[in-house]
Amino acid sequence: MELDAVSIEQRDSADPLAHLQQLFSIPDGVIYLDGNSLGALPKNVSSVLTNAVEEQWGKSLIKGWNCHNWIDLPSRVGNRIAKLVGAEEGTLICADSTSLNVFKVLATAMKLRPGRKVILSDTGNFPTDLYMAQGLKELTGGDIELRLVAPEEVETALDETVAVMMLTEVDYRTGRKHDMKVLTEKAHSVGALAMWDLCHSAGAFPVHLKDANVDFAVGCSYKYLNGGPGAPAFVYVAPKHQATSGNPLTGWMGHDAPFAFDLGYTPSAKTDQMRVGTPQVLAMTALNASLDVFDHTNLEALQAKSIELSELFISEVKRRCPNLELASPTDPMKRGSQVSFRHEQGYAVMQALIDRGVIGDFRAPNIIRFGFAPLYLSFADVFKAAEILEEIIAGDLWDKPEYHQKSKVT
Ligand SMILES: Cc1ncc(COP(=O)(O)O)c(C=O)c1O
Repeated sequence: MELDAVSIEQRDSADPLAHLQQLFSIPDGVIYLDGNSLGALPKNVSSVLTNAVEEQWGKSLIKGWNCHNWIDLPSRVGNRIAKLVGAEEGTLICADSTSLNVFKVLATAMKLRPGRKVILSDTGNFPTDLYMAQGLKELTGGDIELRLVAPEEVETALDETVAVMMLTEVDYRTGRKHDMKVLTEKAHSVGALAMWDLCHSAGAFPVHLKDANVDFAVGCSYKYLNGGPGAPAFVYVAPKHQATSGNPLTGWMGHDAPFAFDLGYTPSAKTDQMRVGTPQVLAMTALNASLDVFDHTNLEALQAKSIELSELFISEVKRRCPNLELASPTDPMKRGSQVSFRHEQGYAVMQALIDRGVIGDFRAPNIIRFGFAPLYLSFADVFKAAEILEEIIAGDLWDKPEYHQKSKVT
């Protein structure tokens, strides 16, 4: 069925989440389809951050650690993220970057499975996760094997040699989503631990860490959680591992009593053991404020809208640009909150889109990615984006020298 502007307007007026768009600051004329890379700015963040700088830091100075409770920001913010990923209170902290948290968890997992040497992952995993595993292997004198298989082969590749299965739930290129529960169960059946990277999951759709019996999880907060560029990441440790895990990066903030200033390291018995150094107070304050938008909705509603937006985009792009190849699964339950297409000049196509106000991104070698953050996107946005994409493809408008100039960040 061919849709028109009026029927799209009707969908927007019937959208129960439409009121959330006003909580975000999006520049006029921009259709923002890159919330899977960097979430948009929630309007409340600026004033909260200004207050943290001028009132808290400016006036309280060092007293702020106690009087504004900066010291507990990792667990306070962590507990709010825990609710969004189905984790128990006290099992998740906000800290460091995803890469660092991958390293901490992998080292911990290897320690918990002595005698096993294999980290199992897939070729769709985000490179930093694989690089951290390679770094750990170097550090341990090569006594670890990083075994990589195709995403659809993970289940059959799980065997008694695997210490830990390290997967990202949603493939950053195609949006393909693993079945967390099934794969975690299979990992446990061969005695392996399961670690999940939730960078493209947290804040996008419901995640059930506790129900899926996941051992460890990590993730970032600058995508669907809208924490801002470089916002701190999070790490989850299942209750059953709290007492025995331990963090290889034994910084003072993971100590049981940092202000006892003991010469020897005693890990905290809580998830705080995953802390390393002084928390990034301003960045965590911004993230804490950005999480407020989730108090106005729930992840089931967000997922339902994300599916509707993505399905609309796919059908419009298929109709308007029949030669573009869909790189994402067609079943919306097997996809995260993004849709990708392949085009051999994908980089240039994306620059032409950005030039016309439709912001997505490009992933080598040929993927154009569009993220659907239902908190701030309308059906009209998605319809218009497909229309502009059609103009660019039909008229070869991407073929200009400036659109082929690669920037450092793609
Ligand atoms: C799945 C996944 N893991 C990790 C990262 C990046 O980690 P970091 O925040 O340490 O740069 C990304 C970045 O896009 C990602 O998509």
